[in-house]
Amino acid sequence: MTTDRDNGHGQSGGAAMREDVARYDRTSVFLHWLTALLVVLLWCLGQTIDWFGQGVPRIAARSTHIALGVALGLILCYRIAWRARASRRLPPASSGLPQNLATFVHYLLYFLLLFVVALGVANTWVRGDNIFNLFAIPAFDPGNKALRQQIGELHGLGANVLLVVAGLHAVAALIHHFFLKDHVLRRMGFR
Ligand code: HEM
Ligand code: HEM
Repeated sequence: MTTDRDNGHGQSGGAAMREDVARYDRTSVFLHWLTALLVVLLWCLGQTIDWFGQGVPRIAARSTHIALGVALGLILCYRIAWRARASRRLPPASSGLPQNLATFVHYLLYFLLLFVVALGVANTWVRGDNIFNLFAIPAFDPGNKALRQQIGELHGLGANVLLVVAGLHAVAALIHHFFLKDHVLRRMGFR
């Protein structure tokens, strides 16, 4: 027999039972929402760096993007280690094709996050930079404009794909919540 606590997507029960839904542990939930917030912030900042005036304002905007990007990279490493070793394991929220699709999208999101962060680091390294006017990162190959352009474009493309996939993932979670009226979204909620 399955219960709400067992499968996390029971349909019935009163308020008391609904509160009893299986959830990810608080650390996983916190890391999930912190990641989502940083990705949206980084994407918006990445798209608007050129709006800042040349010189100090643009250096500050790009340095903020880089610092938040590095923070996201560290958070991501911690999150992956936490997931592998200590996080609460939940039974699948659904079954069959929808479950396979959800699992595929979750792994795709982890892959895209790592891909975009790695290319962001490569982007900074290949072009060289001045972080908050405090210290300089020397350019890896100053004469190689083509490499610089390729990595920059790939970083931007990866960021756009990440945002689209995360957006579809969020829409799926909202469909579960508002139309299928199950507990999938609450699994990722703070109590
Ligand atoms: C998920 C994380 C990230 C997202 C969503 C993101 C997003 C973006 C976007 C949308 C752009 C503009 C691309 C374009 O003009 O086509 C950009 C540029 C850039 N990003 Fe990221 N980024 C992320 C992480 C990082 C990291 C970790 C670093 C470095 C450590 C970084 C360094 C840069 C640099 C140097 C640029 C070029 C800025 C300029 O043209 O002045 N990014 N990023
Ligand atoms: C940039 C934004 C986002 C990223 C990168 C992201 C990434 C992820 C990843 C990688 C997982 C799998 C967790 C694991 O099994 O370790 C996940 C789960 C989940 N996400 Fe997101 N997410 C984002 C935004 C959102 C938003 C906006 C919502 C809700 C509207 C949402 C709802 C959920 C839910 C409910 C789960 C758990 C699904 C389940 O239990 O099967 N996510 N997310």
